[in-house]
Amino acid sequence: MCGIVGVLGNHEAAPIIVEALKRLEYRGYDSAGIATVNAGRLDRRRAVGKLVNLSDLLVHEPLAGKTGIGHTRWATHGAATVGNAHPHRSGKVAVVHNGIIENFRELRAELAAAGLTPETDTDTETVAMLARLHLDRGLSPREAAVATLDRLAGAFALLFLFDGEEDLMVAARQGSPLAIGHGTGEMFVGSDAIALAPMTDRITYLEEGDHAFVTRQGVEIFDRAGRRANRDMQTVALDATRIEKAGFKHFMAKEIAEQPVVLGDALRHYLPADGIALPEGVEFAGTDRLVLVACGTASYACLVAKYWFESLAGLPCDVDIASEFRYREPPLSPASQAIFVSQSGETADTLAALRFVRDKVAKILAVVNVPTSSIAREADIALPILAGVEVGVASTKAFSCQLAVLALLALKAAADRGRLDPETLARHLDEMRALPGLMNQALARSDEIARLAERLAEAQDILFLGRGAMYPLALEGALKLKEISYIHAEGYASGELKHGPIALIDRQVPVIVLAPHDRLFDKTISNMQEVMARHGQVLLMTDSRGADEAAQGTWATVTLPEVPALLAPIVYAVPAQLLAYHTAVAKGTDVDQPRNLAKSVTVE
Ligand code: AGP
Repeated sequence: MCGIVGVLGNHEAAPIIVEALKRLEYRGYDSAGIATVNAGRLDRRRAVGKLVNLSDLLVHEPLAGKTGIGHTRWATHGAATVGNAHPHRSGKVAVVHNGIIENFRELRAELAAAGLTPETDTDTETVAMLARLHLDRGLSPREAAVATLDRLAGAFALLFLFDGEEDLMVAARQGSPLAIGHGTGEMFVGSDAIALAPMTDRITYLEEGDHAFVTRQGVEIFDRAGRRANRDMQTVALDATRIEKAGFKHFMAKEIAEQPVVLGDALRHYLPADGIALPEGVEFAGTDRLVLVACGTASYACLVAKYWFESLAGLPCDVDIASEFRYREPPLSPASQAIFVSQSGETADTLAALRFVRDKVAKILAVVNVPTSSIAREADIALPILAGVEVGVASTKAFSCQLAVLALLALKAAADRGRLDPETLARHLDEMRALPGLMNQALARSDEIARLAERLAEAQDILFLGRGAMYPLALEGALKLKEISYIHAEGYASGELKHGPIALIDRQVPVIVLAPHDRLFDKTISNMQEVMARHGQVLLMTDSRGADEAAQGTWATVTLPEVPALLAPIVYAVPAQLLAYHTAVAKGTDVDQPRNLAKSVTVE
């Protein structure tokens, strides 16, 4: 996901833009650039790699001007090169863009016919060229930008800057969010409020299809039909401390460690002294089926929740990864409900799936970490997970908070459907309230796991096994490990190993077995013994009872606190996260911004 920043300021814009782009680094990127207008002249600087390279360039080739736009690019069309880095420029126009222009080839053909040929491989350059063409044909900058927007298909957040215009930026939003920041005699634009936090907390979010003319005096916003639109200005109190590492080596380490605190916040929000306090309208009595849709880690949270909704509430529950969901043409009944889970609330696949079910189901719920996000705003009911800003690309605290909220929804569904008596419900809610303490006990295993990770870092292939609700956790543990350590890892249902994957087992293959001493423990240990009989190196994650019964013969056993079956997937997420984190640190990879990844994938 790219990062966008714009400044109409009273001070030099370049350093402000660089600092704002640093607050968007968590999105993942592979190049960066800035354009400014100074004494009426448009100019730009761009660099490949991390922002420090752009900062170094600006030291040697300063870029003056109090009006500017900046960008961090996560490559989609065209490799990560200086030439493909934003801002893109054509004549008197510079543009920064987040998203994909789906009809850029068609537009390029029209531009070629008008004598304009591209210099890069990017779809974004086409936008600058189209605006230039309209300027050359006599339109004003505002008119040229609007005429350009009218021709674009796809998902985009765009910011235009014009030669000769020191008090104008044109912003547009279609599919990727944009925030307008209100200063005092200054104005700002950013991909989100996090980028603008040091400059202002007074934010106006553009709505889908909006475009805006921004000057130092303020902003004029127009809706999809071109009519003036009033969008609320809100004060977004961003806890800036949560953007900092607070003494940790990586954001991921901080966010793993924060889980007891943020889970406590979430549980206090949803669990007052008596019962569950969910938003008005969260009701499952008349529901005949649930559809849970998400991507990546969020989809594994949905897979865990399937076990809860079906075992606790007796509610049939389909789980789909968003990129597949629409295309399988799922039969949806008007008595079903859809739940979309997304940390960022901007994942394009998940947002598209939400729009697909609109008017096909009784109600759309969203379990999100960003209450102002597109998915939150387009759902009928949004349930914030209150994990706080999650900067590390590998999702950790958001995953455990997603699970906590989904567990509460499953308990609510069970109560609504008469499947849980009040005493049992109260017991489960008390178990939930004890979760932060159990998470702390799991975190206490960090040093031991770090030592084991030194050896894991040498492995080429690693398997994760689990049964029941621990099977999705095996999938999540494998994803965490592979996405930040780059080691090939796969998660399997432990009962499935003998149907093929066991062929992978030998002395070189560490096998992580997630096995709390629950009703499936014995079966999981049988599978574990099949692995050890073939010299597989087993790392068993269990509790003290499990260790007493099954630790013998394993490479290592990590003993976790005894946990109620309901909470095991949440508590066992901690050692899985720690294993991935410490292995990546041992390998020396970029833990917070792993190669090729973005924090939120806003392209399909
Ligand atoms: C998780 O560690 C990954 N970064 C990725 O799988 C992520 O969960 C997925 O892209 C979904 O993101 P979302 O929760 O913001 O929708």
